Amino acid sequence: MPMVSKVFTPVDLQEMHIKNRVCRAAVNDYSGNFDGTVSKEQCRLYRELAKNQVGLFITGNFYVNKEGQLDATENDISEEICCLSAAELAHIVHQYEAKIVIQISHAGKKNKISKKNALKYSKIQNLSEECFKQIKRDFIKACIHCRKSGADGVQLHFGHGYLLSDILEHYEKGLEFAEELLAGIREKLPKYPVFVKVNSNISEKIYYGFGALCQKYFVTAIEISGSNFAEKTKEDHLYYLDKAIELKKICNVPMILTGGIRTIEDAAKVLGSGIEMVGMGRPFLCEPDLLLKWENQGSKCISCCKCFGLYQDEGYRCALEKGKEVW
Ligand SMILES: Cc1cc2nc3c(=O)[nH]c(=O)nc-3n(C[C@H](O)[C@H](O)[C@H](O)COP(=O)(O)O)c2cc1C
Ligand code: SF4
Repeated sequence: MPMVSKVFTPVDLQEMHIKNRVCRAAVNDYSGNFDGTVSKEQCRLYRELAKNQVGLFITGNFYVNKEGQLDATENDISEEICCLSAAELAHIVHQYEAKIVIQISHAGKKNKISKKNALKYSKIQNLSEECFKQIKRDFIKACIHCRKSGADGVQLHFGHGYLLSDILEHYEKGLEFAEELLAGIREKLPKYPVFVKVNSNISEKIYYGFGALCQKYFVTAIEISGSNFAEKTKEDHLYYLDKAIELKKICNVPMILTGGIRTIEDAAKVLGSGIEMVGMGRPFLCEPDLLLKWENQGSKCISCCKCFGLYQDEGYRCALEKGKEVW
C-alpha cells in the first residue's frame, strides 16, 4: 500500500483503536469559561474538527491544581466536579467515532495569572519534598478525573517548559520523579490509556531514560515534540523525525510525531519510518477541514506563530483568517 494511503488507515495504540493516523495535537484555544468549565465555543471547535475526519484529539492543557493554572481561560480537571464538563468534549468526538485524550499539565514558571506562583516554580531545586509529593498526588487525581469524564485517555505534558518538563530536564532527580509519577498512576489505573508528550531536544540520557520508563509503565503512546517548535520557519518540516526514529530503535512504545507536518507526503514519510501516528497543531487552526483536501494540497500554515493569544486579542484564530468569519 502506498504510504500516502496509510494516513487514513486505522491504528491500534496498545488497546486503543483509532480510525486513522491523524491526531490533533494539544492546542490551547483560549476559550474555556472563566470557571474552568468547557465552553460552548470549545464544543463548537471540537465538533468542527471531528466532522472533518480527525481520528484522535488531544485537548489543550487542563490544569491539575490552581497553582498550575496557565491562563484565565484554561480548563480545570483538578476536582471531581470537573468531570461533568469535560465529558461534553468526549460526548461530541465520540459521535464521530473519534477518540479523545485529555492533556493535563501544571504551568509551573509559565503561570500567567500569579507572578508569585510563577516565581515559586521557576526554582525547581528549591521546591520542598512535600511539594513534589503534592504535585504527584494532583496529577494522579487528575488522571482519575479524566477517566471518570469518559475521555479515552489522559496525556501528561512533559514538554515545552511546563512544570513536568522542568522537573524531568532540570532537576537532578527528574527521572526518579517521573518514575514515581507513572508508577503511582499505574497503581490506581492499571489499564487506563496514559499518553505522554516530551521534548526530544534534551539530553540523551534523559530522553532515552524517559523512553525506557514509558515502556516499563505501559504508556499508550509517546508524543515526540520539542521546546523550539516556535523558532522554526515555513521551510522547516518534520522538526523531530530523526529524534523519534532514534528513540523508536530502542523503545517499544507507539509514537506520535508532532511538529512541522504540513503535507500528506510529510505524513507518509513519518508513517513509513515506523512511527504510528502524525500530530498536527497549527495546520488545524488554519484549516479545520484540512484532511478533506490534504491529498491535493498541503497546509496553508506559514508557521508564523501569531496564533498564540490571537483569539484573545483579536477574536480570530489564525493570522491568515483576518477579515474572514471566525471558525
Ligand atoms: C496556539 C498554540 C497553542 C498550543 N497549546 C498547546 C498545549 O496546550 N499543549 C501542548 O502540548 N502543546 C501546545 N501547542 C503546541 C502544539 O501541540 C504542537 O506541539 C506545536 O504547535 C508544533 O506542531 P505544529 O507544527 O503541527 O503546529 C500549542 C501550539 C500553538 C500554536
Ligand atoms: S497564525 Fe501563523 S502559525 Fe498560526 S496557524 Fe495561522 S499561519 Fe499557522
